[in-house]
Amino acid sequence: MFQIKTFNQIASLGLDHFQHEKYEVASALQNPDALIVRSANLHQETLPLSVRAIARAGAGVNNVPLDDCTSKGIVVFNTPGANANAVKELVLCAMLLCSRGAIEGINHCRSLKDVSNDQMGATLEAAKKQFKGKEISGKTLGVIGLGAIGANVANMGIDLGMKVVGYDPAISIDAAWRLSSKIEKMENLQSLMSRCDYITLHVPAIEATRHMIDQNALSHLKPGASLLNFARGEIVDSQAVIAALDSQNLKRYATDFPTQAMISREDVLPMPHLGASTGEAEDNCAIMACKQLIDFLENGNITNS
Ligand code: MLT
Repeated sequence: MFQIKTFNQIASLGLDHFQHEKYEVASALQNPDALIVRSANLHQETLPLSVRAIARAGAGVNNVPLDDCTSKGIVVFNTPGANANAVKELVLCAMLLCSRGAIEGINHCRSLKDVSNDQMGATLEAAKKQFKGKEISGKTLGVIGLGAIGANVANMGIDLGMKVVGYDPAISIDAAWRLSSKIEKMENLQSLMSRCDYITLHVPAIEATRHMIDQNALSHLKPGASLLNFARGEIVDSQAVIAALDSQNLKRYATDFPTQAMISREDVLPMPHLGASTGEAEDNCAIMACKQLIDFLENGNITNS
């Protein structure tokens, strides 16, 4: 029998739904053949010697010591696409929150504690102009990173009647456009920044993408654009984002990775890493991770999908 150890929260990520008579899924195995990890940071020194494979239940693998794993011959999997729908839906939510006066309108309504029901209708009518918004249909969405999540987001934009443009610094243009053929390709970041009303980031946090959205990139923004970051904090230079907000060139920044200077700003929508945080995404990631590990341990197959 192979042993798969789960780290931290992974035990609650839907593994109960995964049944396999030959495999034991437990949280305290001494000599696991494989590990599944979600948010915990794995360190070389804490990796049991018995481990032959690690599955990260999510898209990013920046909490796994990849170089150490490579030198020890440990195979590392992620779960591409398993949480793409969850991220896509939060992108939709964030675009709407950036465009409609929903948050301000809700806060305003909550402040009406002393208004009687008789006065309520007239009070709400008087307020509604103040919170007038814009529709996202017909606007231009820029998707940076066209892997499983980015392609899903791009297709959603098309379904919503948006014009969608895309840029991917890592994968070949042909590969990216096979995933999502209706989007217009941008040859560089600057062209995308200058075209879009909404820009959403879906690249991994690697050396090449660190501070990809910096002062230079933001200087090309279409005035009044909003930026969404449900990928990783390191991809943006947060000081440059704050400067762009201060200059009002950037209208809003919705992010799963707010800094201290951002959390109380009304033009920032700070969220606590909610992108993939749905029950369905957790189940999908956990099940995909288990299947990958079992296929590897049993058949030697390395299938990262
Ligand atoms: C991912 O990498 O897929 C997400 O960030 C998952 C998470 O919530 O940790």
